[in-house]
Amino acid sequence: MKAELTKEFLEHYKHEPAQYYFTPGRVNLIGEHIDYNGGLVMPCAVTLGTWLALAPNNENVIRFKSLNFEEEATIELKDSYVKDGKGWYNYPLGIFNEILKDHKIPGGLDLLFTGNIPIGSGLSSSASIEVVMAYALNDYFNLGYDRLQLVLMAKRVENDFIGLNSGIMDQFAVAFGESHKALVLDCDTLKYKAVDCNLGEYNLAIINTNKPRKLAESKYNERVAECQTALEQLNQEIKLHALCELTAEKFALHSHLITDETVLKRATHVIKENDRVHLAAKALSEGELNEFGRLMYASHQSLRELYEVSGVELDTVVDFCAGYEPVIGARMTGAGFGGCAIALLRKGQEEDFAKKLTQYYEERIGYAPGIYVSEIGNGASAI
Ligand code: GLA
Repeated sequence: MKAELTKEFLEHYKHEPAQYYFTPGRVNLIGEHIDYNGGLVMPCAVTLGTWLALAPNNENVIRFKSLNFEEEATIELKDSYVKDGKGWYNYPLGIFNEILKDHKIPGGLDLLFTGNIPIGSGLSSSASIEVVMAYALNDYFNLGYDRLQLVLMAKRVENDFIGLNSGIMDQFAVAFGESHKALVLDCDTLKYKAVDCNLGEYNLAIINTNKPRKLAESKYNERVAECQTALEQLNQEIKLHALCELTAEKFALHSHLITDETVLKRATHVIKENDRVHLAAKALSEGELNEFGRLMYASHQSLRELYEVSGVELDTVVDFCAGYEPVIGARMTGAGFGGCAIALLRKGQEEDFAKKLTQYYEERIGYAPGIYVSEIGNGASAI
């Protein structure tokens, strides 16, 4: 990838790159839609990701180019920026906007990005490009932020610059991910453990539904708002700052305060999903993969029926998996509304799985899914 970036950089900018960076995408093993409720999540970085080559240009402009998109931009160095239309470069531009609050960026930069995370697939291509930009500026200009500050900065960009009220899981996972490890992250305290992700005789398969994600952002923000409503209503009797402070037992004592049936369904998912992550972390550490798989299916069911963020494409993948013996657990991963599912697939069954799932999916959905077997990779770094 470095050789290709160098060649393209030279061709486009007529000078050599000065430095290269990489940030992965992520899958979430379990713990969905609870990061913004102070819950426990279990993501890991994948080996797909975003690469960035950069060099100074001394022309007081930032040039954004990507090998994945037609659109490019040349933007003058200013003290601050606002979102500029819908272009992909808003993600790194938002990072400049954040950094400029504390530092001057001297001289201007030429930037070339490339990536292999399918866009809109729920594997965090946006967190990946945000964090690669933040990591690169911090490293190249020696700005002195630590990794967590970069993560928080990237989240602010997603929330305030882009307008998605997401939690911290994606940015955290792509920054802190470790090869062969899952992160058990408490989104309330931001304390985490990188735990061995020993899948024994299983591999992690990623299935991209290839469904274009329409309206995903507005529906995501709607779910965040519904959780906020649940929290406010529960707070009439108890003092909570996040839904996931409640255990299922305690929730049952106070859930009558939630007046709207839909909001009650959302809150029920959140509380139970948080419990499942605790159980899943234990199961993984004890090598109880069948139990881990069972929890994955239960998580999907809840996202489908209570949180209503799945869809016919994701359900078709998970339904197939449930009837296919070499898979012991499957679920949607990420925000949902299309995007990817993951499955624990017995090693050696990859070809058979791909063939049978593709046929099953095509018959019902009308086009093929994308199927990958993924390694768990490292977080953001210079390369
Ligand atoms: C998206 C968001 C995350 C998280 C997941 C759902 O990926 O960016 O913060 O909420 O959806 O778990």
